Amino acid sequence: MVGTRRPPYVLHDSGSIAARVAELGAAIAEDHPAGDLVLVSVLKGGAVFLADLIRAIPRSLSVDFMAISPFGSDGDAGGRVRIVKDLDEPIDGRAVVVVEDIVDTGLTLAYLRSILLARHPVSVEVCTLLDRAVRRIAPLDIRYVGFDCPDLFVVGYGLDLDQHHRNIPHVVAVEDVAAAQADPTCLDRFLPGVPVPLAAHDVPE
Ligand code: IMP
Repeated sequence: MVGTRRPPYVLHDSGSIAARVAELGAAIAEDHPAGDLVLVSVLKGGAVFLADLIRAIPRSLSVDFMAISPFGSDGDAGGRVRIVKDLDEPIDGRAVVVVEDIVDTGLTLAYLRSILLARHPVSVEVCTLLDRAVRRIAPLDIRYVGFDCPDLFVVGYGLDLDQHHRNIPHVVAVEDVAAAQADPTCLDRFLPGVPVPLAAHDVPE
């Protein structure tokens, strides 16, 4: 099994991400023709996506940020999170779109959604760049999905490996996470300014 793992490769390049972000922005604008709209980013992973997404939404909107951390360190918090940084503004009477980098088990987002709904917004919808539905535990209605994500660790476009490589402009699949952790320089060829390496499996579709 270990021997079959490929080196890291591009799952979605920056061009296809930009095209999809434009479509998502247009859909959000169309679905919210009026009213007070606030996009909430969950730090840190969602920040890169949010920065591009808001510039693809041709209407007035606000942005706000939350930072959360799991309760305890045993991984058994059931998605309960501690709010490390709360929203700056109230959300009552406003339409909220939570912008996420990736939804995996969905536990974090389901819990966050319940916290936000208790504040009486008009609506709380989710926009995620990547949806790894195969690992979903908490049922979640995700209104806007950039791409379905296979059951692989991914890095770049805001997603980190040990807090690094969020600045990779592509979404890169890392099949052997332990090897990448041992030698993070294996991801440097995907950094900005380096031409996208075009191996057969690097080309989307
Ligand atoms: P979950 O949906 O509650 O399981 O957690 C989703 C969060 O876990 C995301 O917002 C990311 O911060 C992190 N995460 C999940 N999968 C990955 C990945 O493949 N790469 C980097 N971060 C990930």
